[in-house]
Amino acid sequence: TGGAVRFGVSMEPELLERFDQVISRKGYTNRSEAIRDLIRDYLVRQEWEEGQEIVGTVTLVYDHHVRDLAEVLTSLQHEHSDRVLATLHIHLDHSNCLEVVAVRGSSGEVQRLADRIIGTRGVKHGRLAATTTGKRLK
Ligand code: NI
Repeated sequence: TGGAVRFGVSMEPELLERFDQVISRKGYTNRSEAIRDLIRDYLVRQEWEEGQEIVGTVTLVYDHHVRDLAEVLTSLQHEHSDRVLATLHIHLDHSNCLEVVAVRGSSGEVQRLADRIIGTRGVKHGRLAATTTGKRLK
């Protein structure tokens, strides 16, 4: 690829062997691709730690029969409409709803909003998946 730099890395053979086994299971065809992904993941985590603007998704499962829960979750999203990009709602069965809320903001803002959503009484399970805006990554 244009502009790519090659560099050498020394490591214990056992470590490299284990790495090769894992990346082969994951479907990587070469080490460079796997190492690039690891470095990008590391850089994304740095963006998070530095409080930069990030994007993410909050995935939650809740029972919509729980009193006021759906209203509370909707109100929270309206309150933070500048941080909430979109919401996907799926009626899983008679009681359970799956909601995926796409969010954008500083890592602190996004974490606090995710904590409030996930911590709302009646939410059965929730998790924040944080990623990058992509602006700072090649
Ligand atoms: Ni529903």
